[in-house]
Amino acid sequence: MKSAAPESKWTLRPILRHTMTTEGATFPAPLPAPILPPRPRPKPPILVEKTRPMLLDLFCGAGGAAMGYYRAGFEVQGVDKNEQRNYPFESVRADALEYLVQFGGLFDAIHASPPCQRYSKAGYISRNRMKHPDLIGPVRDALVSLGKPWIIENVEGAPMQPPAIRLCGLMFGLKVFRHRWFESSELLFGMQHPMHGERRIGKDGMCCVVGHGGGVSPRMRAQIARHGKGNPPTKKAWELAMDIDWMTRDELAQAIPPAFTQHLGIQMLRILNYRRGES
Ligand SMILES: C[S@@+](CC[C@H](N)C(=O)[O-])C[C@H]1O[C@@H](n2cnc3c(N)ncnc32)[C@H](O)[C@@H]1O
Repeated sequence: MKSAAPESKWTLRPILRHTMTTEGATFPAPLPAPILPPRPRPKPPILVEKTRPMLLDLFCGAGGAAMGYYRAGFEVQGVDKNEQRNYPFESVRADALEYLVQFGGLFDAIHASPPCQRYSKAGYISRNRMKHPDLIGPVRDALVSLGKPWIIENVEGAPMQPPAIRLCGLMFGLKVFRHRWFESSELLFGMQHPMHGERRIGKDGMCCVVGHGGGVSPRMRAQIARHGKGNPPTKKAWELAMDIDWMTRDELAQAIPPAFTQHLGIQMLRILNYRRGES
């Protein structure tokens, strides 16, 4: 009589299934344990009454991306290695890759914002850039193996694969440029990129939401001085520029404007509905 271990739907790398024979029966060998540092077992997803499709928000931070997907019509659950007290939805403290492999199959779609320090322009001039993990490749591999619709977000200079699209705050009438790339399992549409023209950081409310606390880079300080707006931007100015009002200043500096993911989330929902024959 044959006995089979439950089939895994995904894998981070191809799993070699050796077989061993015992008294004429063939059993799949146990799967190799994932190579992960020991950490508390993450809690399984909080299963809510499913009135909206569920989106898993990996590397969730304080939820800039999450809010856009929520506004588009998703129920959202976040995962971050740090506790995120300001995250406006349910969130779990866990390693994003580990959580994705264990529970990603329970969600309808997945968003991932791996840390950008490895690729950001500020990082290029820093010798510390290579100390930051290169997570885009492993995250992409895991998402592809899982087979659910997904979006990965990152900064200019990140190794995104075509046909990734680039969004700019000006496309949504925001007071930030905040160029971000989005790669997806689906064909998603960008928008026409308005000319930056005369718009400058520090002029007419335009902000560059980076740095910690009240920190302003020397270049930005020079720009602010040039345009006659003597003071560095207040937190309120950042909030207005990004359309986010529930985060600390540090969290704002890591976030993406909800308008970006709302634009993509609406498209993703149409795709999910179409596949379910509800369009
Ligand atoms: C760029 S921020 C995400 C910002 C968020 N998408 C937003 O729009 O507000 C990246 C986040 O990834 C988290 N992070 C880094 N490595 C992680 C890991 N291995 N597992 C889970 N979260 C991780 C950091 O704590 C940080 O909050």
